[in-house]
Amino acid sequence: MATRKRLADSWCGVVLAAGKGVRMNSARPKVLHTVSGVPMLAHATNAVRAAGITKVVVVVPPGGDSAQEFQAAAGPKARLVVQTSQLGTARALLAARDAAARPDSILLSYGDAPLITPETISAVTAAHTKQRSTVTILTARVPDPTGFGRIVRDKGGAVTAIVEERDATAAVRAINEINSGCYAFDAEWIWSQLPEIPRSSSGEYFLTDVVAAAIRAHRKVATVEAADHNEVLGVNDRVQLAEAERLMRGRILRRLMLGGVSVSDPATTYVDAGVTVGADTVVWPNTHLRGATRIGMRCQIGPNAILDGVQVGDDSTVVASHVESSKIGQRVHVGSFSRLRAGTSIADDVFIGNCAEIKNSSIGSGTHIGHFSYTGDATLGARVNIGAGTVTCNYDGKRKHQTIIEDDVQIGSDTMLVAPIRIGAGARTGAGAVATTDVPPGATVVGVPARPIRPKSVKRRIEVPRSGS
Ligand code: UD1
Ligand code: CA
Repeated sequence: MATRKRLADSWCGVVLAAGKGVRMNSARPKVLHTVSGVPMLAHATNAVRAAGITKVVVVVPPGGDSAQEFQAAAGPKARLVVQTSQLGTARALLAARDAAARPDSILLSYGDAPLITPETISAVTAAHTKQRSTVTILTARVPDPTGFGRIVRDKGGAVTAIVEERDATAAVRAINEINSGCYAFDAEWIWSQLPEIPRSSSGEYFLTDVVAAAIRAHRKVATVEAADHNEVLGVNDRVQLAEAERLMRGRILRRLMLGGVSVSDPATTYVDAGVTVGADTVVWPNTHLRGATRIGMRCQIGPNAILDGVQVGDDSTVVASHVESSKIGQRVHVGSFSRLRAGTSIADDVFIGNCAEIKNSSIGSGTHIGHFSYTGDATLGARVNIGAGTVTCNYDGKRKHQTIIEDDVQIGSDTMLVAPIRIGAGARTGAGAVATTDVPPGATVVGVPARPIRPKSVKRRIEVPRSGS
């Protein structure tokens, strides 16, 4: 705890996110592209914060269009500063100087590196502090160094420079130790050096040139090698974006499985970064768990399920169905082939069967909607049974209207409930009824338009002698 506090006081995290991202060929800023449902910039800033650095400055491009999206990705407490002209990583860090105020040390990372973990960042800050270095570089030995800056060392193994690929000789290109883009700097020194960096052959000001400057000034430059080289993947194009997605997906599934979730086929299971799943739940193949989905314990999800922003209670099943922005209680069954649209709230012990569409509705406990049907803008009580083919006719061509079905109602197959309408507790509708007005509690209505069955008329019908008897 004490270490955490000291880190928070003496460090400032800076995340560079102002690059043009030309290689993405996208109208969207590169760092706002998502990996496992979360913008790359959010992965990068979350890792810095999770390493105990609470003060975070994010350097963003000019043009206010995406300002809100940048802030949402970086988190509400992050300070955003604009880099007015995108002249390279050295100028980007310089843009953060005033906002960073006066920390002892800077932890810098790039917004296009979504896989760097908090543990690795902590290893960099710890080594930097312990060795009292001026610069600490996170490096990695990679199978294919193409596109990365190479770490050049002298015969004794000491770092002498980072050389960008475009400036590298064939011998330097052959080096497989690369610069990750994550560094720790002595704050005072880096601010004094940045304005001194010369323009590179590409016309940009490369932050990586500060390393050679530090060596010339006999300052200490240290390195920390990433335990897993996959962490340092930088996303410059959509091929690398897909690769980052694959790696992140594997990491998320592994965390779930180690936490007690069975994933029957990891190759066809897609889980976003923010999703939680309780122990002893089984996720079956071809299942997508997106957004802020939270699944309870002992559930069966899939095969072929898509859940986006859904909360599911313990012991529930969702099979071959699509559920969005909804809440599902405990011991609920959904599917196959049902669609729960936004704003649906399902209480405990509900059974939603085949081909049911439900939208913006609340379904009371113990209710059954077993077969193909449409329930929209409705409130259903407890222990209701909805017969096959029932439709809440909620739209009159101009406006949407509410349907209220109270406890213990039995809706006969193929009933049309023309909203606005209220069906009183314990009432019944006959098969094929078209209910256009409210039905009192306990009543039975039949026909088109639906009318109550009078107990008297029922009796008279029974009394009529059958011909031939
Ligand atoms: C950079 C490093 C390279 C390293 C690699 C790791 C430099 C000069 N090179 O190369 O040594 O191996 O990352 O992935 O730093 N950015 C700004 N403003 C700018 C330019 C860039 O904020 O003017 C941001 C980008 O949004 C990006 C990051 O800085 O998040 C890195 O820029 P990028 O152009 O992707 O650098 P690389 O060529 O990948
Ligand atoms: Ca990059």
